[in-house]
Amino acid sequence: MVDAVGVSLLGAGNVGGGVITALAGARERHAGHVGRALELRFALVRDANRDREGIPRDRLTTDIEAILSDPQTQIVVELMGGEQPAFDYITRALTSGRHVVTANKEVMAKRGAELLSTAAAHGVRLLYEASVGGGIPIISPLSRDLLANEITSVTAIINGTTNYMLTAMSKQGADYSEVLAEAQRLGYAEPDPTADVDGIDAAYKLAILCGLAFHVEVLPEDVTRQGISRLTARDILYASELGYTIKLLATGRLVDGELVATVAPTLVASGEPLAKVDGVLNAIQIEADLVGRVVFEGPGAGSAPTASAVLADVLDVARDLVAGRVERPEPARRRVRVRPPEEHRSRFYIRVTVADQAGVLARIAGALGEHEVSIASMIQFEADADERTAELVFTTHLAGGGALSTAIEQIGSMDVVREVGAVLPMTGLGAR
Ligand code: NAP
Ligand code: HSE
Repeated sequence: MVDAVGVSLLGAGNVGGGVITALAGARERHAGHVGRALELRFALVRDANRDREGIPRDRLTTDIEAILSDPQTQIVVELMGGEQPAFDYITRALTSGRHVVTANKEVMAKRGAELLSTAAAHGVRLLYEASVGGGIPIISPLSRDLLANEITSVTAIINGTTNYMLTAMSKQGADYSEVLAEAQRLGYAEPDPTADVDGIDAAYKLAILCGLAFHVEVLPEDVTRQGISRLTARDILYASELGYTIKLLATGRLVDGELVATVAPTLVASGEPLAKVDGVLNAIQIEADLVGRVVFEGPGAGSAPTASAVLADVLDVARDLVAGRVERPEPARRRVRVRPPEEHRSRFYIRVTVADQAGVLARIAGALGEHEVSIASMIQFEADADERTAELVFTTHLAGGGALSTAIEQIGSMDVVREVGAVLPMTGLGAR
């Protein structure tokens, strides 16, 4: 066979290890797909003295120059994570004429536009299938298979850690801190879980999805974000009694040409496909004019599933290299206004702990009504008989985010209100 296609990795950890194993295990099949063998050249790591399965020590390096000066490396696969030095290394690989594949949602969400334009300027490709949804194919379907559509919404569960935790809260009736400790013990949650539980990881992924789906420029800070750390087992239970499941939902829509992008614990009607996506699984639901609704579901993380997505990109680039096709710039994106949360419209779930005494319900209902927030349902639960407190759970019809937060502020300042425990959006027709 003629010359192999040289592939070097930046990072040989969880995903990098999966890529090394999968490359070694399917050499002939990959060569058959590409028309040439794929040859693993080097792997950049922090600690080159530690043995890694599937790659000899003399192929490990701590020096990016060893890879950039290797004439046989044609594809650089970035699997380090984080914004820096990943951004610099990807830029240098692209400007040196290498194609780049990355699984890094943070760098693609924050600096993707710059990187894609550097790739286009140098006639090389930058692919990032594994950056969203781990092993689920979603970047490629949005870039190619759904391109003829006008996409109206993206609704997704794109963080496995929080989905695992919310599923456990729902099934075990356990509280947030208990399931977080369990998720950390099982290795699903990081010792510092902030990026997952505060919705930061999901916001990076949603920014990438919205950019592709709506052909707009989106940054992570354009995503309105609420994490799961204030959720209680009671919210999960009350939601279930109302016929809903709480999911950390990432949603994106273009409304009258303006972007609405949110990550928030959301009440999803139990009959909806996304309500049934449990544990560490991810799912992305796309609504579009021609195809209608499509749902992509599968493992959103893990060494082998993520290697599947990384290698799909590597094989795609390698096939183009062999065929002499290289540049395929993405469609142009435009900057649009991003709607602030006060202008979002949604149905809401509200849980308020109040003094259990005459007239309280009427005062709260009055505050909602005064701000044009129409109540759809209300249930009262006994909270603490000794303290004579009760919990009121309201669901609303569609309401503006601004009107709702003014009403909630007014409710929170009432002497009879002990706590506004939760204000969560609900899925439903007309949300925007
Ligand atoms: P990981 O296990 O922490 O591995 C990171 C690797 O990069 C390690 O080999 C590390 O070297 C190396 N590295 C990090 N910083 C470096 C630096 N400054 N210089 C040289 N080497 C450096 O991470 P991972 O879980 O494989 O994740 C990699 C990427 O894939 C991230 O962008 C992540 O968001 C993305 N991703 C991960 C998953 C998943 O399931 N884990 C799923 C989808 C996407 P040492 O080994 O010497 O420490
Ligand atoms: N921390 C991420 C998750 C890993 O829990 O989904 C995959 O990006």
